[in-house]
Formats: sequence, C-alpha cells, structure tokens
Amino acid sequence: MAFDTIITNGTVVHVTGSEKADVAIAGEKIAKVGRGLAKKAAGNGTRVINASGCYVIPGALDVHVHLDLPFCGTTSADDYDSGTRAAARGGVTTVIDFAIPYGDESLQQAVDNWKGKAAGKACVDYSFHVAITKWDRHKHEMESIVGQGLTTFKQFMIYEKEGWQADDAAIFGALEKCRELDAMLLIHAESSRVLDELITRHHNEEEMKKLGAQLHAITRPNFIEAEAIQRAVKWAEVTGGRLYIVHMSTAEGTEIIADAHRRGLSNVLAETCIQYLVLDDSLFKGENGHLYACCPQIKKKADQKRLWSGLQKDTVCVISTDTCTFSREQKATWGGDWTKIPMGLPGLETMVPLAYTYGVGKGRLSINELVDKCCTSPARIMGLGDRKGQIRKGFDADIAVIHPKHKIKVNPAEMETNADWSPYEGWNLAGFSRTTLCRGKVIVDDYKFCGENGHGQFLTRGKPGRK
Ligand code: URP
Ligand code: ZN
Ligand code: ZN
Repeated sequence: MAFDTIITNGTVVHVTGSEKADVAIAGEKIAKVGRGLAKKAAGNGTRVINASGCYVIPGALDVHVHLDLPFCGTTSADDYDSGTRAAARGGVTTVIDFAIPYGDESLQQAVDNWKGKAAGKACVDYSFHVAITKWDRHKHEMESIVGQGLTTFKQFMIYEKEGWQADDAAIFGALEKCRELDAMLLIHAESSRVLDELITRHHNEEEMKKLGAQLHAITRPNFIEAEAIQRAVKWAEVTGGRLYIVHMSTAEGTEIIADAHRRGLSNVLAETCIQYLVLDDSLFKGENGHLYACCPQIKKKADQKRLWSGLQKDTVCVISTDTCTFSREQKATWGGDWTKIPMGLPGLETMVPLAYTYGVGKGRLSINELVDKCCTSPARIMGLGDRKGQIRKGFDADIAVIHPKHKIKVNPAEMETNADWSPYEGWNLAGFSRTTLCRGKVIVDDYKFCGENGHGQFLTRGKPGRK
C-alpha cells in the first residue's frame, strides 16, 4: 500500500499506554501503526516526518469554544480564521462551538448562521452544540437537529439579559427529550436569582471604586455554581437524561459530581477548563484584573487542587477552554463597572501546552491521561469516538507531535489568536505542537501555522458516548 505520510521514530500515545511506533497515513486516514513502516515505505514519494524524541498524540478536541460570538455588547475577537489557526498551533484539530439563536430565531437558523461563520474559514474540523433558549418553541426542533448529526444541546441557567436563560422546567424537559432522542444536554450551571441578588447588593460606586474587578469574584461565591450543579444533577437523576456540566470551576461542584458517580449516575459528566486549573482569583486584584473576567470566574487554589484530583479519578472527564476572546480594547469598555466586562478568555492555542506543562510536567497527569482528557474522552463523549481522538487504523489522521522539553515563552504578538494579551503572557510552556496534521494535511510545521482556510470540515456526530 502506498502511504502519503509516515511519522517515524516517535512515541505514540494512547490512553492505555505508549508505544514506539511509526504512523502511516494514506489520504485523510491513519492506515497503519507499527514498527519499521518508514523503512519499508521509503522512496515512494512518501513524506517522512521525523518525530524522534517526541510524543505523537492524537489531535486534541476542544469541545467548548465560542468563535465570532456576539456577546456582552461586542463580538468575540477570534473568528473561524484566527481561532482555528490558534487551535492548530496548540495541537487542536477539532473544535465544537455553540450555535446560539438570537431573538426569535429557530434552532435551525442558529445552526445555519454558525455554519456560515465557519464555512471557507475554518482550518480545523468543527461542529456545534445547539443552544435551546426558547424551550416552548425549540423543543419541537430537537429531533430534526439530532437527525442532522448535532447530538448535543446547551442550556444556560444565567444570561437572562441576553435572552439565553433556561428555567428549571426547560432543563427538566430538555433532559427528558435528550433521553428520548439519545442526545446529551450541556449545562452552564450558576444559580441566577441569588447571583442577581449579590450583584445588586454590591453594585454601588463606593465598592466599585474600592474593589474594581474583585467584585466579579465576590459576587460569585462557590455556592453559586454548587447549588446549580446540584439541581441539574437532580433533574438528570429523575429524568435519566444525559447531562454534561460545562466549565466546572469549583471544588464543591467536583464533590457533587463525585457523589453522583458514587450513586451510580453514569449519565452525569463534567468538564473543566484549563484556566480553572492554572489561574486563581488573586489576579482580580491587579491593575489588569478586569482582563481575567470570565464566566464562571476563576476560583481559588483549593479549587484548582480538587479539579486536578477530579481529573485523576475521572470525576472530571474532559479539559476544554471555553475560548471567548476579547482584546484589551474590548475589555476596557468596562469603565470600572465589573458587570460590563466582556466575559471570556483566549485559550485554544495554549490548552495542550498548559495541560502538558502543569499536568504532565508537574506529575499531576501522565501523558496518557492528558490524551484521555484532551483527545479520546472528548471525542467519545461528543459522538466522534469512531473517527477522532485516537491514533488507530481507520481513524482520521489528526495528529500533534510534541517535544517533551522544547519550551516557548507565551507572547501574544507571536501567536495566531487575535487576542493582544494572554493570561499566560511570559509563561514558559512545553507542549506546543511542533507538527500538526488535520485529516492527513500538515497544518503546523516547526511550530508555525501552514494550513489553509477551508480545510476544516463540518462534522456530523453520532450518539454521545460514555467514557
Ligand atoms: O466567559 C465566558 N465563559 N464566556 C462565554 C460564555 C459562557 O458562559 O460560556
Ligand atoms: Zn457558560
Ligand atoms: Zn462557554
């Protein structure tokens, strides 16, 4: 068999172990994984990529991103061009965004709108979770959306002003429907009424002058997330619907998920985002504290610790980013009022390097566990387990080659993201992708993006999987 590309001399990483092996690629697929393939195939015009001294991991999936999102009175700064170039450089070859209906739009209109944002621009593969913002109308469309290979829905417990908020009846109904359709419901879990009350209590000139962006953290104590997760878990328990808590940020949330698992609720899953594992809320005290506002906000070191242990025990099964980039200029529109900060952080380019440096590098995760949380599990859970997230014959040739020691200092000026700042600026990170392939095509070479707009394909997805 003629191979187009062979990655040789590397250590191929799976969830269950690692092996010294070559990876042979024909067209867009992995054709063979084994020893000595490069020697046999040499000279046939096959491109040989030397991965000596490197890990060869599956292309990562970031299953929680917002590209080109109108939000907080502006539009997020990374679109499908810069966002997916950033992804490629970070070793991410699949992104899953959220198609959100605006105003009276249907789910179908939201999906078509998001397809329009991505078409011709995306450099890596993409799909969408579909946000249910008007339960009474949108419930009638869920079956048709699942029929189109979009098998995950999203509801927000907050964001009333944006018109995105779902109440308990909507969440209960959506979980019932997900059970019926073999779909999964993603929930942004924060307790809105108490959150509103705390915001009202602190929203005065005196406190804003004194505490600035710290009020973002002060008004969102951990129980805001914990109560909401507890409630969502209860609705999942009684309906039997599949529930996936997005961007879990607290130790208390992790305990609730661990307890759900102890009680046998295998239909309840949770992800965390890399920022909650490596940043803490002391950042809000600084002059640039407002830059770090995201929702839910960054918590404390004790929460980081519990989230890492949750990952080790599989209580937390996915690492994602919740990428929602805003420039310094966009963030500056807050004018001292924390309720007006555009909320979100850049993330796609640094997820795997941070997970590598602070997970594998600090002994918190093995390289196999990193592959589990960033590649194999997100693929399986989001219904892509038959083609993404593993280096295995017949799977898409999505691959990142990572040198274990080569460090790059994070410098926004040299990055693909449109963000002109980074929460990780000046941090020395190993784990950037030296070579990234997306469906057989090299899109990063020598740490530099070399892909093309339009290479990224829209992915239909199967039934959401268990781990
Ligand atoms: O701050 C964030 N996370 N912005 C995006 C919206 C969301 O809640 O995920
Ligand atoms: Zn959210
Ligand atoms: Zn989000």
